Formats: sequence, structure tokens, C-alpha cells
Amino acid sequence: MGRSAEALRDQGLGFPAEDAVAPDEVVRVMDRVHTLDVAAFEPSFLVRTLERRAQATGSVSALDYLTQRLVQDHAEATAFHRSLRVSYTSFFRDPFTFALLESRVIRDLMADTTRPNRGALRVWSAGCATGQEAWSMAILLDELASSPEQHRAWRIFGTDLSESDLAVANSGVYSAEEVSNVRLRHLNACFTRQGTAFAVATRLREHVGFAPYDLLDATTTCPPASIFGGFDLVLCCNVLLYYRRAQQSLILDKLVGCLVPGGYLVVGETERQIAQTSARIAEVPAQAPTYRVRKR
Ligand SMILES: C[S@@+](CC[C@H](N)C(=O)[O-])C[C@H]1O[C@@H](n2cnc3c(N)ncnc32)[C@H](O)[C@@H]1O
Repeated sequence: MGRSAEALRDQGLGFPAEDAVAPDEVVRVMDRVHTLDVAAFEPSFLVRTLERRAQATGSVSALDYLTQRLVQDHAEATAFHRSLRVSYTSFFRDPFTFALLESRVIRDLMADTTRPNRGALRVWSAGCATGQEAWSMAILLDELASSPEQHRAWRIFGTDLSESDLAVANSGVYSAEEVSNVRLRHLNACFTRQGTAFAVATRLREHVGFAPYDLLDATTTCPPASIFGGFDLVLCCNVLLYYRRAQQSLILDKLVGCLVPGGYLVVGETERQIAQTSARIAEVPAQAPTYRVRKR
């Protein structure tokens, strides 16, 4: 342990003598030295991310990184803080989920004449990153809900913390590699070529909007851009897993509260156990992590 680690222990930051890093120490250093709040993050994710930064910066150990580099270097603390926001996404990311949405959920919502808001189908992609999830839904709805025989109005809201990711989402322009998961039929019908890139067709853009929204904002019950919530389908995939239980509950309550009775919630494959903690939703028996708000 380096000198500054000992000094920090003397200041009451409490490092253990052994070479392991405890999540609470990471929270304390980030808070006391840099006033950056990382207390909401799931502890093992916090430590894993710190270990990755330690490796990337050539530190001799995670503890050394925490007690030396992170303490002394505010730019590095900011970089570590940024690396806690994972923004990986892709079109039709979880094949089972999108198969279920296509074969059952959308058709079900369109056929349900008892839906409380009866008008436009309302979908929320919460934590949408650069927008691929929202546009994947738009592609399916364009096909299933825009045919003359089966016409339904539909609207998709995409929200995220990151304004720069939302700018990409809003542009709707993706590289050939990024659209490699999109079926050729959909690529031809829903995109136009822009040089080597692919731009989402104007027809789809009319139904989709993106806005910043912090899911942990305890002062709002739904994204203000959506006006009143009332969603038929909420996708919140690969967001909950990064948070501690209290934050998971706050977000989950909000997502469920924004759904109409009988509305669907979709989470990430590794987030099933988190979703199962809500008594207000029931799992849809299928391979995809999909839930339905219980009708009272
Ligand atoms: C791993 S990406 C998942 C993207 C997409 N949902 C998917 O499954 O492909 C997680 C996204 O959640 C966003 N996020 C994390 N915490 C958030 C919060 N408190 N409020 C809003 N968005 C958040 C991040 O900015 C990031 O873009």
C-alpha cells in the first residue's frame, strides 16, 4: 500500500491492509476527493470497472490505482466515472425478445380493443443509448401496425442520460456494421443509403422522438417528454443490472407505474431476477424476459 493510501486511512477513509478493494472505499474516495457520486452502482460492477481502469492505466494493482492514481488525478477520476456508464447496444439485440415482440406482444396490443388508451400504441425505450432499440421497435411497428388492413397509430419515446448518445439516436444514421443485424427486407424498406451509412427512413422518424431523462429522478413519475406516461410497452434492457437494489426498485416502480394495466415490460436477459421483485407484474411464459402489468 502506498503512502497516500496510509494517509487516507489516517484521514478515516479506512483502507484495509490487504490488497483488495472494497466498493465502499471506491465510493468514499470518489465522493470525498472528487465529489463524484458513485454510490448508486452495483458493488461488484463498481469494483470490476475499477479493475479494468487499473489495468488500462498500467497500475500495479486495483488498490494501487484506487489509493494513488484515483486519489491524485482528477481527470482519471472523471474517466473512471464515465466508464461506469455502459452504452453498448445493437439493433435487435436479444433475438428471443424481438422474436416475442414481433410474433406476440405487438399483435396482442393491436388486437386488444380494451386497451385503456385505445388510440396510438405507446412505447418507451428507457435507457436507449444510441437508439438502436427504439429503431428496432420502429421497424417492427412500421411493418405490423402500418399496413392498410391492420393500421394503428404508434409512437415511440427513447430516453437516456447521455445527450451525446441521444444525438446519435436522433440522427438515425448508422454504419453498415451497426445495421448488420437488420434483416435485408427491413434494411431495404426502412433505411436509405447515405454513402456507406444507412439512415432511418423519414416515414419511421415521424413516429419516434428522443429526449434526455434520468430514470433515477425521484421527482418525476414518467419522462416529461411523454406528457403522461400511459405506455403499452416499456423496454428497459441492460440498465437495471448496473445499480444497487434501492435504485433498481426505484427504476422498476417507475417503469411499471408508467404502464397501462395489461401493458408489457421487457428487461435484459440478466435482469429477470430484478423484475421478479415487483408484485405488480407477472412473467409472460416465454423465453424472453417479458412481464405484464397485472390487471386489478
Ligand atoms: C448498456 S446500455 C443499454 C442500451 C439498450 N437499452 C440495450 O439494451 O441495448 C445502458 C444505457 O442506459 C443508460 N442509463 C444508465 N443509467 C441511466 C439512468 N439513470 N437514466 C437514464 N438512462 C440511464 C446509459 O446511459 C446507457 O446508454
